[in-house]
This record gives sequence, C-alpha cells and structure tokens, in this order.
Amino acid sequence: MKNFNFQNPTRILFGKGRIADLNDQIPSDAKVMILFGGGSAERSGVLGQIREALAGRTLVEFGGIEPNPRYATALKAVDMINENNVDFLLAVGGGSVIDATKFIAAATKYEGDAWEILTSYGSVIKEAMPFGSVLTLPATGSEMNSGGVITNPEKEAKLPFNSSHCFPVFSVLDPEITYTLPPRQVANGVVDAFVHTMEQYLTYPSAAYVQDGFAETLLRTLIELGPKALETPKDYDIRSNLMWTATLALNGLIGAGVPQDWASHMIGHEITALNDTDHARTLAVVLPSLMNDQRDRKREKLLQYAANVWNIRDGSEDARIDAVIDSTRRFFEQMGIKTHLSDYAIGAPEIDHIVNALKEHGMTTLGEHDAITPEDARRILNAAL
Ligand code: NZQ
Ligand code: ZN
Repeated sequence: MKNFNFQNPTRILFGKGRIADLNDQIPSDAKVMILFGGGSAERSGVLGQIREALAGRTLVEFGGIEPNPRYATALKAVDMINENNVDFLLAVGGGSVIDATKFIAAATKYEGDAWEILTSYGSVIKEAMPFGSVLTLPATGSEMNSGGVITNPEKEAKLPFNSSHCFPVFSVLDPEITYTLPPRQVANGVVDAFVHTMEQYLTYPSAAYVQDGFAETLLRTLIELGPKALETPKDYDIRSNLMWTATLALNGLIGAGVPQDWASHMIGHEITALNDTDHARTLAVVLPSLMNDQRDRKREKLLQYAANVWNIRDGSEDARIDAVIDSTRRFFEQMGIKTHLSDYAIGAPEIDHIVNALKEHGMTTLGEHDAITPEDARRILNAAL
C-alpha cells in the first residue's frame, strides 16, 4: 500500500426528511445564497422544503446552473454574492450545481483572474467560502469530495479543479428526493459511480486489500441495484443504497493508498467539451475500449475484477478478460447507455479534435503509469467508433 493522507471533513446527514435539519447546520447569523439548476428542484418541491426549513432567514437565490456548469454562469453568481454580502452557500442539485458552487466559493475569495483556478487545476485556491449541499442526484460524489469540473464553451474547455478548501461543510442525502429523477439521470448516476470506482481499482495490484474489497462491493451493488432502480423507481432500499454507494465511490476512501487511473474521465471530458454529451455517457464509451487497449498493463486487476465482481473464473486469461469487458459493456447498455462513439455523432474528424484538445489541456501522460499519451487516446477512441 502507498503512503497516504486521508481527511474528509464533510458531515453527512443521510435519510428521509433530513432537509428539516438544515437550519442547525448553517451559522444562525449567516446570509445564505441557495444555488440550483434549471428547475427540477422547484418542480419536485425540494426548494419548498428548504425554504421552509430556513424560514426566518434572509435568503438569496441563484438559479439556472446548467448541466456541465458554465464558467460564465458561475461568475454571475460571484457578482451576486459580492453585491448581497452573502456569507454561506447552499448548493441544491446534482454534481453540476455542487461543482459550480465549489468554484464560486473559491472564485469569490480569489483576487486574480478566476480562469486561473481552472488552468492551475485548483492549485491557486488558498481559501473558499463555506458551503453545504442538498444532493438530488447520486452520481459524482461531489457532495463529499473537494473536486469539480467547469465548462467554458468559448474556450472549448471542460477543466477539473481540486482543493482541500472545497469540501462541503455538510451534505444532506435524502434518497426520497431522487424519486423524481428521469431514467436517463438514474442511469447516468449509476454508470458514473461505477466508473469512479473502476478508475481507482482497475490499475495494478498494490496490496491494498481493504480498498479492493470495498471497491468490489460498490461495483457489485451498482450492477445489482442499477437495473432495479430503473424497473422500480420508488423503492427506498434501492435508492438509499445507490445514493450511499455513489458517495463512497468518490469520497477518497477507496482511493487512499492505491494507484489511480482517471484516463477515461479526462478523455471523456473532451468529448463533453466538444458536443455536451452527458458525462456518464462519455465514460461508458471510453472505459470498455480503454480496458481492452490497456489489457496487458491492467491484466492482474482485470482478472481479479472478472473473478470477484462478475464470477468469471474459467477459461484462459485472455478469454476471461474478453468476457469481463463484454459484461461491463452489456451492463452499461442494460442501463440504457450506448457505448460507441458513433451513437453520439462522433467520427474521425471529431477524434482529431479530441486528441488535439488533450494536448492543449496538458493531458499527455494519463493513466496509472502516466503512460497514456494523446496518440494512445486516439487508438482507444478509434476502437470505440
Ligand atoms: O438542472 P435541473 O433542472 O435541476 O435538472 C437536473 C439536470 O438537468 C436533473 N436533476 C437533478 N436532480 C434531479 C433532476 N431531475 C429530477 N429530479 C431530481 N431529483 O438532472 C440533470 C443532470 O444534473 P447534473 O448535476 O448535471 O448531473 P450529475 O450529478 O451527473 O453531474 C454531472 C457533472 O458533474 C461532473 C461532470 O463532469 C458533470 O459536469 N463531475 C463531477 C465530479 C466531482 N465533483 O467529483 C466527478 C465526476 O467524474 C464528474 O466529472
Ligand atoms: Zn465521473
């Protein structure tokens, strides 16, 4: 196992009706800004529950944060915070709203050009406003981690940032508020959490037995419950387990002390930057192709994954690896997510564009060995057509 620091300061309030406990989580004299997306939180009644829980406080509201949140929108929120002397932020939504809130929390305190936060991948962040979240879409783990991803269409860029100053103070996870999710978003959430787990697990053995065991349990849970959540949308046991699984998949726990990959994510971000494809869908295209392409480097973990997650134990090594890649792809397709680039209107010219964008964004040494170059990404993408 590698050396590691592990500290996760986010308090989780999990379960039915927990929005009612919000008031105690926010300093009583704080002026609060509620940030949300395109309207689902209003329609579902979640915002109503929050206004009720925070009755008597002075609230400012900022709506309209897009999926794949936009840089320009985030800067508008920064202006509104400064004009209104806001001192606590409450993100209400999925990964996009929470990521945008993290960026806004950091940008409000940053004296230079906010774009530098992204070009430095967050390293220039020295402080951020305090914020909490009410999670409405289990997927990204943003509710309990310190990272985010912001899109700037003018620069054709979707860039990640990370800073220890960007953990939520608290996050409310009420599985019942995920009942209103459309099947597409349920599927996206399951596949995103699945690929987060894979990016921290499917590398090479590092004698991290507990992290491997946790990761395998998360993967098996997603495989078992993901399709059931589509069939039976209002089942509390299914939704609560999926919600907690998605959080644990990217809150630092399974990634502590192990090699990590993240190449599927970095390649996937360039696809979204190009044509706004849903984040999880880009991963469902890239990961199976990358598993096949990197089968020699990942051989031991591919065989462990085959045995412990899919119970594939018979046949030659290559036959087991073929079978487990096929099972992974079929799982994504079973969730209703297509796994080829041509399903998302991407052909050879777009692949050129993606490869160039990877170079431009410094994504030239990806994967657990820092060995996946943009030309390797081209081969992976060509095989995913
Ligand atoms: O905008 P509204 O109207 O609220 O609708 C949203 C949005 O259209 C809707 N929605 C959310 N909760 C709902 C709901 N609809 C009905 N009922 C509910 N309870 O779902 C749509 C998608 O929301 P979004 O927040 O975009 O989805 P997700 O949580 O999948 O977040 C994706 C973003 O997170 C980033 C992705 O790159 C992408 O930008 N990621 C963030 C990570 C992190 N912070 O650690 C890691 C991930 O790998 C990922 O990159
Ligand atoms: Zn992701």
